[in-house]
Amino acid sequence: MINSTKEAFNRLSVNFDTLSINQKTSLEKDGFCLIEFSIKDWQDRGINFNNVSKTVDKLIDDEGWKGGWEHISEKMKKGFHPEPGAQRLNNLLNKGSCFRKLFIIPEILAGSHALIKNDMCLSSMILRAPQPNSGRQNLHIDWVPRKKETDPFRSVICAILLDDVTKESGATRFVPGSHKFLGEPKDYGFGDENPHPNERYLEAPRGSCLIYSGHLWHGGTECKNGKKRRQIFINYRDRKVWQSLNMKKFLNDKLIKNLNDAEKYLLKVRPEDPSQIEWFFKRRNNKLIKIMFDFLWNLEDIKKKKFN
Ligand SMILES: [Fe+2]
Repeated sequence: MINSTKEAFNRLSVNFDTLSINQKTSLEKDGFCLIEFSIKDWQDRGINFNNVSKTVDKLIDDEGWKGGWEHISEKMKKGFHPEPGAQRLNNLLNKGSCFRKLFIIPEILAGSHALIKNDMCLSSMILRAPQPNSGRQNLHIDWVPRKKETDPFRSVICAILLDDVTKESGATRFVPGSHKFLGEPKDYGFGDENPHPNERYLEAPRGSCLIYSGHLWHGGTECKNGKKRRQIFINYRDRKVWQSLNMKKFLNDKLIKNLNDAEKYLLKVRPEDPSQIEWFFKRRNNKLIKIMFDFLWNLEDIKKKKFN
């Protein structure tokens, strides 16, 4: 039985040396780190990278505008993508055995935990690919803004690059070190599509894996050359907060049955894991519900600190 992230990591051979000192320093100081995996590195981790890319293309063909709506199905509009200008897919774990091992890549687990520093679980595994001449996003963060220095980092994103990424094909822009800023870009007058004076574009070859804090200021840029720029995003979150996709509800029973104990723990699909209450989840952006859950989550952190 696995009852903590530490136990899951022991089972999955994730340890203090999984990431290099440079990678850990970069995560801490800059809020991101890039791991340049080769296709062979993926093979060594049990992943057929070409098969992943092909399966993604097939799913894009099959789903089209219907792709990526699973976590916000109540807002689905016929003929519209959930994000205008980008193709999305969601619930990848359920849609192909080639995706099955992506969420337990040791470097992804170690990098996520280096920032979350708490028990964690998978929130979602999605695909995003900007369409030609589209895909520019406002500078934003992917989680609730921190209000004070002691507020924790509760969300980490790992982008797996299925294609070479260049400035012309829509590299993501980042502001290094901004994960430590309180609030969000719009509080500082930067919450739009305009360039930030300190932004950097992340160009990297196919196979690379970019791990970054959900609080890092970032934004997709437009795919000017029309080349494919597919990325799988694996999002880990502090275990006590919402899963973007309720895995208990969305993963099929056969898949869950075939998971090992560590995987069941990380997906939060063990019988003892409380089911996410959909009524609250759908209303998670309501001001009162936000305040209430923020209070409860902080209370849990305080309790944990007291007993440790
Ligand atoms: Fe984002």
